[in-house]
Amino acid sequence: GVMSHELRTPITAVYGGTRVLRSRGERLDDESKARLLEDIEQESERLFRMVENLLVLSRLELGQQVATEPVLAQRVVAKLASSFRQRRPARSLELRIDERMPPVAAEPHYLEHVLRNLLTNADKYSPLDNPIEVEASMQGDEAEIVILDRGPGIAPEETETIFERFYRSDRTSGQAAGIGLGLTVCKRLMEAQAGRVWARPREGGGMAAGITLPVYKEV
Ligand SMILES: Nc1ncnc2c1ncn2[C@@H]1O[C@H](COP(=O)(O)OP(=O)(O)OP(=O)(O)O)[C@@H](O)[C@H]1O
Ligand SMILES: [Mg+2]
Repeated sequence: GVMSHELRTPITAVYGGTRVLRSRGERLDDESKARLLEDIEQESERLFRMVENLLVLSRLELGQQVATEPVLAQRVVAKLASSFRQRRPARSLELRIDERMPPVAAEPHYLEHVLRNLLTNADKYSPLDNPIEVEASMQGDEAEIVILDRGPGIAPEETETIFERFYRSDRTSGQAAGIGLGLTVCKRLMEAQAGRVWARPREGGGMAAGITLPVYKEV
């Protein structure tokens, strides 16, 4: 099916690339070698992310409990932003973070995982010359983190369906590889942390995807 195809493609690219480098590496010019290495790096990263989503999903389906603790969401956003900027120097990322946000109740690795999935989507589905914006602020008594892009966006009737397993929108067909599991994982992870994830079309074009988390309360 789609999934085995999506998993095989990066494996083939990594395997093929390393074989070429080993067998013909000496005869390749520096530019071709650099391009091959860049492909290998990108494809292994993609594979790594896909496997991570599959592992998280299977753990949750086996009934894994998620323990939450006080987490400074603004720190998680800052860490994610700095690794994203290293990995994608050509893409501009604009942060608007309320540094006074109180700690939220979350599982820090899972919070980062959710935000990375949303950020990867914004990057994958929107043109490189448009910045991605990240906002973090309190909305009433909940913390909200929103990721905004200027890609094709979603139809109003897709705001729930894009979270369904294997769903991929017509609007993005052929644009980027993927299984259609990233948002399903986000939804399950946010439910396990007593939060929510949502998506809506953005005014002026593009998509807004966000998460809502309760503030940490001592028991
Ligand atoms: N920022 C976005 N702009 C427009 N469409 C989006 C955006 N994010 C998600 N979508 C749509 O929702 C679909 C489901 O997203 P999801 O992240 O679950 O899967 P995917 O990106 O296709 O694959 P993967 O499992 O690798 O994440 C996407 O295929 C795309 O059609
Ligand atoms: Mg995705």
